[in-house]
Amino acid sequence: MQVVDEARHGEAFTRRAEAGGARLGTTAVSGQLSLKTLLEEPDFTTATFLLCVMGEGTFLTLLKFLGERAPDPVTAALARLAHRDEARHVAFGVEHMRYVFEREPEMRISMAAAVERRSQMLASISGLSPYVHDALVVYAGGGLSIPQIREGARRVADLQREMDRSRRERLQSLGFEPGLAASMSAYHTKNFM
Ligand SMILES: [Fe+2]
Repeated sequence: MQVVDEARHGEAFTRRAEAGGARLGTTAVSGQLSLKTLLEEPDFTTATFLLCVMGEGTFLTLLKFLGERAPDPVTAALARLAHRDEARHVAFGVEHMRYVFEREPEMRISMAAAVERRSQMLASISGLSPYVHDALVVYAGGGLSIPQIREGARRVADLQREMDRSRRERLQSLGFEPGLAASMSAYHTKNFM
């Protein structure tokens, strides 16, 4: 189900990107590397935690933001529908982790270590790709004038704070101590995935 959803998102967002007549841009190496660490994770529970709780959880905040700031109704609908699918993936992941932690509470330590390990593997990624960041600023500000750029930059900074806040909240709902939840959230990849 999840793979089918993701394939549909890939196709729908690609069509939307090409609808304006511009060709697709490039994917940053950082994004590809980040996805690769998820694909190569051999343990199902660890992969579920990293992908569904940390990654897709962060994407829920991103998709909500994209839906609310969308420049047209099609983009808004796309973001809203993708958000609905992702919410299902996150719910599945959170329930799986709740099941695991009820039986093996010490697995929380393994998950915290997995987040830190992944962050070290992705240490070469110093931050959000400037292309992604700038695109979000223009999207959120609604244009290229100086006041729009200023407003867009402020909204993107708010978005990143909101992503951190909701990751910490989700981790605490799974029984992680607030301090540990905060450091795990800080270790989460800079490219949201
Ligand atoms: Fe997903």
